[in-house]
Amino acid sequence: MDQNQLKKAVAEAAAQFVRERLHDKMVLGVGTGSTANLFIECLAPFKDQILCTVASSEETQRRLRLLGLEVRDLNSVDEVSIYVDGADEANESLHLIKGGGGALTREKIIAAVAREFVCIADESKYVPTLGKFPLPVEVIPMARSHVARAIVTLGGDPVYREGFVTDNGNHILDIHNMEIRDPVGLETQLNQITGVVTNGLFAVRPADLLILGTSEGIRNYKI
Ligand code: A5P
Repeated sequence: MDQNQLKKAVAEAAAQFVRERLHDKMVLGVGTGSTANLFIECLAPFKDQILCTVASSEETQRRLRLLGLEVRDLNSVDEVSIYVDGADEANESLHLIKGGGGALTREKIIAAVAREFVCIADESKYVPTLGKFPLPVEVIPMARSHVARAIVTLGGDPVYREGFVTDNGNHILDIHNMEIRDPVGLETQLNQITGVVTNGLFAVRPADLLILGTSEGIRNYKI
């Protein structure tokens, strides 16, 4: 199976996971990216049984509405039952790097609210140590240089994602060349730099379940 077929397989597995847990107050959180987009397509057969969704980006909101699903503002729901999203990297502790598509802040907010956070990914994303994929940091535009200097003192190489503006009107710095040995510690440290909105490490709140697509079939990892 190629990478896209693996993504489709995990998207279908996640849709099945949601389907088995349907209840009349199901609020579904939906992530951003190519794997999440495939997951959205898999919702079609049972979309009428989902009370509403919350979206981690404008693009995901557009796709969900196109399918006929109701999308609500997170402030107008009491809870998020299940949140399904992709990742750029995942380790055995279900710590993740996310934000390759720039939607990390809304993704992290929905993950924080969700009762269950399900990550879907193909096997290329499963790594022993996080950090080969550049770690995205969303910054308030006027703080960009200040945050970049602070990242250098932490040992990383920040690269400004030129021409990209997040759904929140902010900028992204991608940290290269940083082997992440302490994901919880680094996530916390980066978030303490003034001007950082959040960073793409999902370790303080890791995934609850990783559905990984491999050439030998689907593997489920739980913590
Ligand atoms: C979006 O900002 C990201 O967090 C995505 O979830 C992540 O980049 C995975 O994307 P793909 O499913 O396209 O690999």
